Amino acid sequence: MARSTPFIFLITLISSSTLAKATYNIVDFGAQPDGLTDSSGPITSAWAKACSSVRPASVYIPVGTFYVSRLTLKGPCNNTDIRIYIHGTLVAPVGYNTDDRWIGIQFVDGVSVYGGVFDGRGQRLWSCKLAAGYSCPLGATVSLKNPLQILTIGPMDYELTICVYMFAQSIAISRSRMGEADQVTITGSYIRTGDDCVSMGPGSTNVWIEGIHCGPGHGVSIGSLGSTAQEPGVQNVTVKSVVFTGTQNGLRIKTWAKPNTGFVQRVNFQNAIMRNVQNPIIIDQSYCPGAINCPTQSSGIRISQVTYSNIQGSSATPVAVKFDCSPSNPCNGIGLQNVNLTYGRTPAQSLCRNVAGSTTSGIVVPPSCFGT
Ligand SMILES: *[C@@H]1O[C@H](CO)[C@@H](O)[C@H](O)[C@H]1NC(C)=O
Ligand SMILES: *[C@@H]1O[C@H](CO)[C@@H](O)[C@H](O)[C@H]1NC(C)=O
Ligand SMILES: *[C@@H]1O[C@H](CO)[C@@H](O)[C@H](O)[C@H]1NC(C)=O
Repeated sequence: MARSTPFIFLITLISSSTLAKATYNIVDFGAQPDGLTDSSGPITSAWAKACSSVRPASVYIPVGTFYVSRLTLKGPCNNTDIRIYIHGTLVAPVGYNTDDRWIGIQFVDGVSVYGGVFDGRGQRLWSCKLAAGYSCPLGATVSLKNPLQILTIGPMDYELTICVYMFAQSIAISRSRMGEADQVTITGSYIRTGDDCVSMGPGSTNVWIEGIHCGPGHGVSIGSLGSTAQEPGVQNVTVKSVVFTGTQNGLRIKTWAKPNTGFVQRVNFQNAIMRNVQNPIIIDQSYCPGAINCPTQSSGIRISQVTYSNIQGSSATPVAVKFDCSPSNPCNGIGLQNVNLTYGRTPAQSLCRNVAGSTTSGIVVPPSCFGT
């Protein structure tokens, strides 16, 4: 594949009219949009104001390139609605080579990030790896694992990681402790990566993903789940209006073929466009890399109430819809409506193992193969 795209994570701004009333512009705290002066201090100061506010507050990062060496924005805060609006670009140091995060938001309950470009400067690594280079440029050979991490507090903890380098996940959501539900929203993002565009780990609950362009990458994934024996379930997930271009997967649920107490329920996949995607719709419950520790076992993760509606486009392989569910815990309540996936000039095919579901309305191409 010819790819000259710089390796960046980019989000477009929703609307400045959504700015909350108390707004702290980082420029007022000394940040300079010159791409050279470290804006970590000014951003931290603006954050401190928003965090101490007793009413909803926002941090505003205007148009321009702001160099950020390393940033940790900490709570707990005095309000549970802090928004960070980014019109500009945050750039990492060249050759940033730690496995630790670049930007972290920690111990905050109720934070949203809108817009902006997070440029991890992965271009050199990206182009070198694509050229199958073995001696990639110094400072670019180590990937940045957690450029942006959001860890909320409260009874429910989420960890959200945005990764801009290849061979790493773009956005990973997982709950770090048991407890009540919280919410993670990801909207209007362009994600180009070498792994999942968004991955939802155990405990991901009340997640809303909308308006994402994914590719290159491995798609939007729930999982892998079930690597450890006991895990919190995944529920109430909406993935809406995602365009997948040349990705390995589109909408995926993936679990290890091992006993587990976890589950996936109430997932809505809506309005996706697939452009030459290898596995546009896939549930894979037989994940067992290298056939180590799980051959002949089956997944304990119970998958139910998963609907796919308005999914259109092209598959890069003949089987566009694959439900490979667990023999011991068959998937049930899987719904398909208005699905039209083609393979070349022909309708694509579907594959079903251990799955019960229904086609509720509209056309479904390829026709479903649900057991009755
Ligand atoms: C929360 O508000 C109180 C009272 O206004 C203030 O003393 C405290 O510093 C604030 N907390 C934070 C984290 O800013
Ligand atoms: C499901 O999640 C959405 C946010 O993604 C939230 O607004 C809604 O209240 C949740 N529904 C339930 C029943 O918890
Ligand atoms: C499915 O999509 C293809 C390609 O866009 C189109 O030609 C075909 O008419 C569609 N099938 C139905 C049944 O709508």
